[in-house]
Amino acid sequence: MLDVSSNRPDLPPEIARRRTFAIISHPDAGKTTLTEKFLLYGGAIQMAGQVRAKGEARRTRSDFMQMEKDRGISVSASAMSFDFNGLRFNLVDTPGHSDFSEDTYRTLTAVDAAVMVIDGAKGVESQTQKLFEVCRLRDLPILTFCNKMDRESRDTFEIIDEIQENLAIDVTPASWPIGTGKEFVGCYDLLRDRLELMDRADRNKIAETIEINGLDDPKLSEHVPAHLLDQFLEEIEMARELLPTLDPQAVLEGHMTPIWFGSAINSFGVKELMDGIGRYGPQPQVQSASPRNISPEETKVSGFVFKVQANMDPKHRDRVAFVRMAAGHFKRGMKLTHVRTKKPMAISNPVLFLASDRELAEEAWAGDIIGIPNHGQLRIGDTLTEGEALRVSGIPSFAPELLQGVRAGDPLKAKHLEKALMQFAEEGAAKVFKPSIGSGFIVGVVGQLQFEVLASRIEMEYGLPVRFEQSQFTSARWVSGDAQAVDKFTNTNKQHIALDNDGDIVFLTRLQWDIDRVARDYPDVVLTATKEMM
Ligand code: G4P
Repeated sequence: MLDVSSNRPDLPPEIARRRTFAIISHPDAGKTTLTEKFLLYGGAIQMAGQVRAKGEARRTRSDFMQMEKDRGISVSASAMSFDFNGLRFNLVDTPGHSDFSEDTYRTLTAVDAAVMVIDGAKGVESQTQKLFEVCRLRDLPILTFCNKMDRESRDTFEIIDEIQENLAIDVTPASWPIGTGKEFVGCYDLLRDRLELMDRADRNKIAETIEINGLDDPKLSEHVPAHLLDQFLEEIEMARELLPTLDPQAVLEGHMTPIWFGSAINSFGVKELMDGIGRYGPQPQVQSASPRNISPEETKVSGFVFKVQANMDPKHRDRVAFVRMAAGHFKRGMKLTHVRTKKPMAISNPVLFLASDRELAEEAWAGDIIGIPNHGQLRIGDTLTEGEALRVSGIPSFAPELLQGVRAGDPLKAKHLEKALMQFAEEGAAKVFKPSIGSGFIVGVVGQLQFEVLASRIEMEYGLPVRFEQSQFTSARWVSGDAQAVDKFTNTNKQHIALDNDGDIVFLTRLQWDIDRVARDYPDVVLTATKEMM
């Protein structure tokens, strides 16, 4: 059992043992493989290959999933819980494609740390960089796993330098690879003075560990070929001179990342990484909220919705709101207050996501992710409490970068279209604007691909063919400010005004010039490109 009492000694043990994190990586770096090994060691699956197999089965179910597969992206939501060494890990899946940045951003509001996976031959790739920047906005602690060390990879110093330079974060080696490519034999665990040897013959076998008494221990030469050992000792000497040593506080503050080297497919280095998440990863953190922040050890339960997924089971038209528990000890059947509507909600069928199945959650602690099936009451950004009017902050909605008009293939089905659009808007998959003049809707997204995904889902889930068409507008800004000024502004600019899916006022335009004009002509009106989801 790991010592988990170090970073917050005052937390109740059930909360202190929780680690809630996401994996960030560029497609193909090994996120799925690593996830699978986590689940394997967490006892959540019995055999490697199950997650992928399950994924394939799900994907072939529909055109949409087929499209997802073809493009190599992952849009299916999941949060997985598993136990390891006395710890409870909650792994929240981040959508992989750059088009889904808003969704990804919100997912990252629900975690306390991120594991960054990079490919040892490719280093820091574009998507990793983007996701890293998002983590940086929240100062999320990052632990790094350099994968595919069984293949020809870059020089270790070069990899570390690249991370330091591209991401402007201190990197400290937690392990050091010995040999590369075909000659890769394993790693030296710098934190615990151990030699970990990789077994190429059996991919699922856990590495053999040999306790080493310092770098002049003769046991090293028994296990490492002489030419590799010499090079390794030289590198270690240099590393100790040039690279910073591990500072747990700097890791928690997001200024330093420890890096482990390994090969997920060979189950190598994964346990060390999991130990690392336990030792150096943060426990559930304080959640920013208004009028006051929420501490995980508070006895009263609270949580917030960071993701809504509709139609997870197409037979049941259900919606699941993914809730990150911010504080307390939740028990199934509890009545919580839905702060936005001030209404009580009995949470009788919460679910926990275990690898491939959902299971009723009898209880949950701060740090956990539960799914609450509902009929649309719960929206992204909503807070649930035991009565106090707290609202979690920091879950933004971004102005869409692409706008298109949408029409139902069959004009008689316009009402159905509205329903479908509202549902996707609630999921956060698109913004839907109803212009104050004329009929029809304008849909806003962040990436072009989302229009295709939407059209395909509306057809599949609602049996409604739709057409997206060019809109006269290209930008949207939320309108706020002095009520009288806003009234005057909306009345004189009716052809540019719409309501978004929450009923908030939006200014639609083609030109930056228009936005600048509003700032000049209406000093009491504020146009913003983001809005807090509440
Ligand atoms: P992703 O979720 O980040 O996109 O990556 P994924 O785990 O799917 O891995 C991408 C490819 O890299 C897969 O190969 C996977 O087997 C391989 N891979 C993962 N970890 C390692 C590793 O440690 N060493 C090596 N050599 N390869 C690794 P694929 O050919 O695309 O799929 P598959 O046919 O092997 O399933």
